[in-house]
Amino acid sequence: SIDSKVNALLAKMTLEEKIGQLNQYTSDRLATGPLSPNSSKYEDIRNGKVGSMLNVRGAKDTRMLQDMAMQSRLKIPLLFGLDVIHGYRVTFPIPLAEAASWDMNTVELSARVAGKEAAAAGQHWTFAPMVDISRDPRWGRVMEGAGEDTYLGSSIAAARVKGFQGKGLGNTDAVMACVKHFAAYGAAIAGRDYNTVDMSDRLLWEVYLPPFKAALDAGAATFMNSFNDLNGTPATGNAYLQRDILKGKWNFQGFVVSDWGSIREMIPHGFAKDGKDAARLALNAGSDMDMEGRCYIDNLAALVKEGKVSESLINDAVKRILRKKYEMGLFDDPYRFSDQKREDAVLNSAENKKAALEVAKKSIVLLKNESQLLPLNKNAGSIAVIGPLGKSSEDMKGFWSVTWDNDHLVSLYEGLDNKLKGIVKLSYAQGCDVTDTSKAGFAEAVNAARNADVVVMAVGEKFDMTGEAKSRANIHLPGVQEELIQAVKATGKPVVVLVMAGRPLIFNWTADHADAILYTWWLGSEAGNAIADVLFGDYNPAGKLPMSFPRAEGQIPVFYNHKNTGRPASSDHYEQYRSTYLDLPNSPRYSFGYGLSYTKFDMSDLKLDKSKVTQNDVIKVSFTLKNTGKSDGEEVVQLYLRDMVASVTRPVKELKDFQKVFLKAGESKTINFTITKEKLSFYDQKMNWIAEPGEFDLMIGNSSDHILLEQKFELVD
Ligand code: IFM
Repeated sequence: SIDSKVNALLAKMTLEEKIGQLNQYTSDRLATGPLSPNSSKYEDIRNGKVGSMLNVRGAKDTRMLQDMAMQSRLKIPLLFGLDVIHGYRVTFPIPLAEAASWDMNTVELSARVAGKEAAAAGQHWTFAPMVDISRDPRWGRVMEGAGEDTYLGSSIAAARVKGFQGKGLGNTDAVMACVKHFAAYGAAIAGRDYNTVDMSDRLLWEVYLPPFKAALDAGAATFMNSFNDLNGTPATGNAYLQRDILKGKWNFQGFVVSDWGSIREMIPHGFAKDGKDAARLALNAGSDMDMEGRCYIDNLAALVKEGKVSESLINDAVKRILRKKYEMGLFDDPYRFSDQKREDAVLNSAENKKAALEVAKKSIVLLKNESQLLPLNKNAGSIAVIGPLGKSSEDMKGFWSVTWDNDHLVSLYEGLDNKLKGIVKLSYAQGCDVTDTSKAGFAEAVNAARNADVVVMAVGEKFDMTGEAKSRANIHLPGVQEELIQAVKATGKPVVVLVMAGRPLIFNWTADHADAILYTWWLGSEAGNAIADVLFGDYNPAGKLPMSFPRAEGQIPVFYNHKNTGRPASSDHYEQYRSTYLDLPNSPRYSFGYGLSYTKFDMSDLKLDKSKVTQNDVIKVSFTLKNTGKSDGEEVVQLYLRDMVASVTRPVKELKDFQKVFLKAGESKTINFTITKEKLSFYDQKMNWIAEPGEFDLMIGNSSDHILLEQKFELVD
């Protein structure tokens, strides 16, 4: 068995060789150019002092480094890891955009293709999925997760793990998933990256941990810890998170890698006094592998000799890592992923691009469609494309497009041109740059609008304005872009605004005045083609927002599953003394779960098979969904619950289930859900997971703020 092989190998290893397995370096290539076989890192590989490399890319380079590992005494293969976040060579929409699809097959497909491409290019391991819940669009890394909701985020976490790991780690087209960042990284104070996190155990367990557990249950091979401290203890040195929860209560059998240098960063955190102290704290707390921190390789041997770290804990960490290397078949053939012919055949294939187009279309959210301006008619006459992102292909890739040498990315203009060649006249004016403060280009843009029948405006963020360390305090549409929209709209021409961004942005004037708005995020390789399909109705948009969009930064954090307070905004007493703002409504500009379609859906006939249930009962819920419009389309039906009175105050609603349903124009379908005890449960004062007797409100709608069906039921003893 693998365990006996691991034990036999461990018995042959010196302490130094064991510590080597816990050491991960980055390739110099990312920072300093071509690989240099003479650098000390490569000497360390030959000496059995390295267990894994990150940022080595391609069959050729991974083979070259694996050759070095094969020169070491025990010939233990290296693991190659990389941030394959949304595609490898063919680029998929950023993860937050994909989350807007609410379509688990789509999410899994994207991870599958990314996994296949990465594995064909020598990778064994992706540092994804990121499953950090976040309620703060100022935080640049929201682009990399699934948004604000625990239930949706957990479903997506599982789908991504399945996609990356395919049919299992023994297959050469699978890469190990790495669930990150354990834990609570998305709750950084004020949305500033790497910042402190302070939260109750209740919030941690109810909102932030479930997506990690879902990823683990889906078979995730590895975890990464996080940069932040949590309630006073850096996650990297946090035994409660890594030993008690992950490896204890959850019985995780894989290994935990630190984040880049996060072991050493416990020094500036004020938690470790030097690198040696940091190594002691991290290893004892359950961090198995040191990413580019050199704390383990430099200090663990001395710490064992001094009795400050036990060799049995090191053995445990080594075994976890070796087990994965065996599971991936690397001891049978260390080069099985480094195959140039496979790399040439798999990367950038037509099939992969087709998948990227599918996922991109499903990620688009229709925010507004006044007078049914969309879809546009292909014989519409002339279209002016206006705005700084109209001809940009580079920005379509989005942040964390890690290979940075993506194949060609299709810009909006090119996508429109591909679709409309010869039929519709296209013109273009940039108007301004994304962050420009100058309006010098406005006149040309206004002129282009005057000479066109319809205007399509492409505004938003440049690809490197949202991502790691890309927090922003001001998340309004940058520069003078909103003024450009105002100038163009003043021509009286119908204006469709496309917002291309990595996070929820604020654009109140546009929301009030544009004729139509599509949120197109950063959609990857096929961005322009996907948007063209949606603009002209070849695909009916069905995306729903995975995060609330604030009206102003001052509302942040604004999220749908908040508590009611003792003086809610809707109360009819205490007129002036309610939990509201003087200058803004409490509600976001666009709510979690919101998104329109070119058709209309109606929901009716809600039936619950019981109105009183016991703890062991299952309630069967059914209703009729009808496509009452003129085009075929998909609707995401969303089921929310509220526990009306409990021993702990509960949110006003929580997503507990959803389905994405396709209906032809005029078609109806009965939709079924079941309510189990699990969906009614929460952590009581003593942190026991229980369902308490009492009244529950069941709500079904097509957005968290648009409930169409509602009924109460009671849980009885
Ligand atoms: O995987 C990432 C992580 O999310 C942030 N720090 C660097 C790691 C490796 O690139």
